[in-house]
Amino acid sequence: CCTAQLKGKKVIVTAGGTREAIDPVRFIGNHSSGRMGFAIAKAAVLAGADVTLISGVTNLETPLGVKRIDVVSTRDMKQAVDSLYDDADVVIKAAAVADYRVQTPAKDKIKKSEDTLILSMEKNPDILYGLGQRKKNQILVGFAAETTHVIQYGTEKLKKKNLDMLVANDVSAAGAGFKVNTNVATLLFPDGTNEKFDIMDKFDLAAIIIDRVTKIINKS
Ligand code: C5P
Repeated sequence: CCTAQLKGKKVIVTAGGTREAIDPVRFIGNHSSGRMGFAIAKAAVLAGADVTLISGVTNLETPLGVKRIDVVSTRDMKQAVDSLYDDADVVIKAAAVADYRVQTPAKDKIKKSEDTLILSMEKNPDILYGLGQRKKNQILVGFAAETTHVIQYGTEKLKKKNLDMLVANDVSAAGAGFKVNTNVATLLFPDGTNEKFDIMDKFDLAAIIIDRVTKIINKS
């Protein structure tokens, strides 16, 4: 169904994990593969949108027709997203963002002389929270990886971050979360409704997410 439902719409998707430098050769990262976000970018392009994918480090191929901006740290990602936000119609934040960064990354490689190494870390900005605060007409979609109380924690996140839709993953479920090609998700909406899906391919879930975004746009 519905080709070109998002024709003329500017969609920003963030994907993959961010990395925080410890020294010039080491970093703190996470297991995000970027697959969910790349699938969403592809589904959005197929729906006719003008898509910019802001990606952490991944080895995935850029979907055809998608503009890609590569970033490394959370603050890089924030800068890229913030600079495009005012003109955007939809922002989908599938990235796994590092919540903390090393306070003072070492200029030179740290030598392994001591038996213990203590890294002092400070909190990164919450990119999505900032977007929620600045929201005008944009449709804002967030992700949440939970292991328990998926609906309760998801609903709290949806409200706190001022989102139009939240994709909550039960990452403890088989076939959900990082590195796999499938996902298990519940979509939550501000009116308190939700839709729970069984395990499915990430691209199929991406198509559903884009379809629900289109419905939100058509209602507003
Ligand atoms: O609060 P939590 O990290 O669970 O929220 C996840 C959602 O918030 C994801 O959409 C993620 O991309 C976004 N996020 C962010 N900046 C952060 C942390 C999370 O944009 N520092």
